[in-house]
Amino acid sequence: MNETVRVDRDGDIAIIVLDNPPVNALSFSLRAPLATALEELHDDPSVKGLVLACAGRTFVAGADITEFGKPVQRPHLPDLIVLLERYRKPTVAAIHGTALGGGLELAMACHFRVADAGAKFGLPEVKLGLLPGAGGTQRLPRLVGPAKALRMIVSGVPIGAREALAEGLADAVFDTDLVGNAVAFARAQSTAGATLVNVRDRDGKLTAARADLAGFDAEAANLLKRSRGLDAPVFCVKSVRNALTMSFSDALATERNYFFELVLGDQSRAQRHLFFAEREAAKVPGIGKDLAPRPVRRIGVVGAGTMGGGIAMSFANGGLPVTLLEVSEEALGKGLATIAKNYAISVSRGSLSEAEKAKRLALFTGTTRYADFADCDLIVEAVFEEMALKKDVFRKLDAVARPGAILATNTSYLDVDDIAAVTGRPGDVLGMHFFSPANVMRLVEIVRGKRTAPDVIATAIGVARTIAKVPVVVGVCHGFVGNRMLAARSDESEALLLEGATPEQVDRAFTEFGWPMGPFQMYDLAGLDIGWRNRKSLGRHAAIADPLCEQGRYGQKTGRGFYLYPDGSRTPQPDLEVALLIEAKSREAGISRRAISETEILERTLFPMINEGAKILEEGIAQRASDIDTIWVNGYGFPVGKGGPMFYADLTGLKAIVDRLGHWHAKTGKAIYQPSTLLRELAQGGGSFSAR
Ligand code: 3HC
Ligand code: NAI
Repeated sequence: MNETVRVDRDGDIAIIVLDNPPVNALSFSLRAPLATALEELHDDPSVKGLVLACAGRTFVAGADITEFGKPVQRPHLPDLIVLLERYRKPTVAAIHGTALGGGLELAMACHFRVADAGAKFGLPEVKLGLLPGAGGTQRLPRLVGPAKALRMIVSGVPIGAREALAEGLADAVFDTDLVGNAVAFARAQSTAGATLVNVRDRDGKLTAARADLAGFDAEAANLLKRSRGLDAPVFCVKSVRNALTMSFSDALATERNYFFELVLGDQSRAQRHLFFAEREAAKVPGIGKDLAPRPVRRIGVVGAGTMGGGIAMSFANGGLPVTLLEVSEEALGKGLATIAKNYAISVSRGSLSEAEKAKRLALFTGTTRYADFADCDLIVEAVFEEMALKKDVFRKLDAVARPGAILATNTSYLDVDDIAAVTGRPGDVLGMHFFSPANVMRLVEIVRGKRTAPDVIATAIGVARTIAKVPVVVGVCHGFVGNRMLAARSDESEALLLEGATPEQVDRAFTEFGWPMGPFQMYDLAGLDIGWRNRKSLGRHAAIADPLCEQGRYGQKTGRGFYLYPDGSRTPQPDLEVALLIEAKSREAGISRRAISETEILERTLFPMINEGAKILEEGIAQRASDIDTIWVNGYGFPVGKGGPMFYADLTGLKAIVDRLGHWHAKTGKAIYQPSTLLRELAQGGGSFSAR
């Protein structure tokens, strides 16, 4: 019929096959011929039933996100749904891979859904700052009940085929021959003369919740607790609730209006930007798909401390066996015990089964002998942040690792080229900079040294993706991309305290912006002693954090830091002693304290970071502004609804940023406020980071 839509016949059953690689998104080029096919087959008396299936790796994975925000070309998805719901002969969606978003909405417009055992069903629109916009919030509650639908739609997390079957979303699950079985299913329904009821007309599962709206609202309020200023989850809740209080058609029309309101808003634009940014970040000029990665079957990790343990867990979680090395049996035992404890916590929370825990623990081999790394394909070093020690470790690794094995350092700041230079294989050396807690945070900065071989980069990207991390390739400089920009922010956070702000005021400005926590809560959580040790080694000083450390106030772990944490509590409480210390330090520095506004806090922390980001782009340390956004969202919790620092800068307007940097430069004389050349040029030309 058309390249993207084909109609096959199996006797009296018609099979529409959608073929729009890579993920069968519902682009206009697919919608138009699909509408034609649906119209023709509807009127064809020789057709007794219809199967809707997909070619390639997946069922329809959703609307075509690249079309959002542009004028809608008819037929749109709701038109296709109307065409499907007109059928008075059985319609069956045959689902393999993922039925997501508009794909699941299309499937829910069929009378039946049958699935391959490995298929997944979900409405992930919330992750794009949206709600399902083609009936998802109305049809899903009718199939699985409003409580389950609400959880699926607000979290955006898909469920597997067996669960879909148990919940009433799927009607049958097959281990083999999905399309053949779907045809047989459609034929059986057609010959049995089954009563065909569209999902929109099935209200049975709504009755109980309609009688208990308070119960629904309580559940919704609980789910919204973590939505942190994002609009989409709130709209998802409102729309599912409408299924209980409005007629189907009114609720459907309202859902569509909500969808358009969200799709045109900044939050959804930001989240769509991040979706594509994450995928773009794994692409490196000169490293194409034709470049074969090296095989990685066994991992080595040096150091079983905070990071080494988390890194080792990440690989084991991805199914890779890990050899973990420590300086002594005692340190090794401690590291392995922490790993076992972390898995036990996951079991107690219900996120991991006992069997899975045992499987993962069996992947670890502990050792104190470098010779045991001989069979490792990738070895990640995570020992203390000291150059001499790192060099010593790399010399030892170079001596025992097999030819072709990749050697990675998890250093936060140190020069990867200097480390590589002590080995006889600098082409096989790179940085793999994980973020804390490494088994949770998704970001890995892939640090490309001057001499790192292209296939080593390709291998690191590939292995990071197999363990569900987000790799972003960066160049060598002090602190790489993330920590270098963080440093620009850290100094100013303390300066704000000295000039008149309190830690709680600064932290509140951050959380109101959408960060999970402010800088002082973060220091307390991570431990103030880490930065203190680092500063001492660099001969640097922090006016407030250093005296706090001298008093043994390391943060949550000692019950006191910038805040108090009485009786092991994790909730920060302002401390008068800290307020007095800050005032004393202001006096000592001859600063007369003044009122600091929330705007000032944001401008003085965020704008120097953006400025530093621009310098990083200028120097080619990051390839694209969107890579920087991916780093900040996945490694430091930058609010997703703001799209990352560089996207936020574009939204704010680069001219406004340059003006305010100039203002703060005039006031403080600090170099961090001196606008970078790139930022100035873009602002002058009316440009943006995304269009660069
Ligand atoms: N629209 C446009 N492009 C899409 C797309 C979509 N819905 N989904 C994926 N792509 C593109 C990706 O950008 C990528 O392009 P690239 O190769 O040029 O970088 C390519 O397809 C392959 O994607 P992945 O690299 O993500 O492939 P994976 O195999 O790792 O994952 C997937 C496949 C699980 C389907 C994942 O791509 C995904 O989650 N996609 C988005 C699903 C989604 O959010 N659907 C809802 C859309 S909104 C909607 O439907 C609104 C409706 O309610 C009206
Ligand atoms: P840590 O102090 O928790 O752990 C370091 C571990 O290395 C200790 O268990 C120690 O016994 C072990 N070790 C020391 N010398 C060794 C040797 N010669 N051989 C084998 N093991 C040895 O430190 P942490 O925080 O895990 O940091 C490790 C590295 O990760 C550092 O380079 C740090 O900069 C980097 N990093 C730290 C982050 C964090 O948030 N803690 C985040 C990202 C990177």
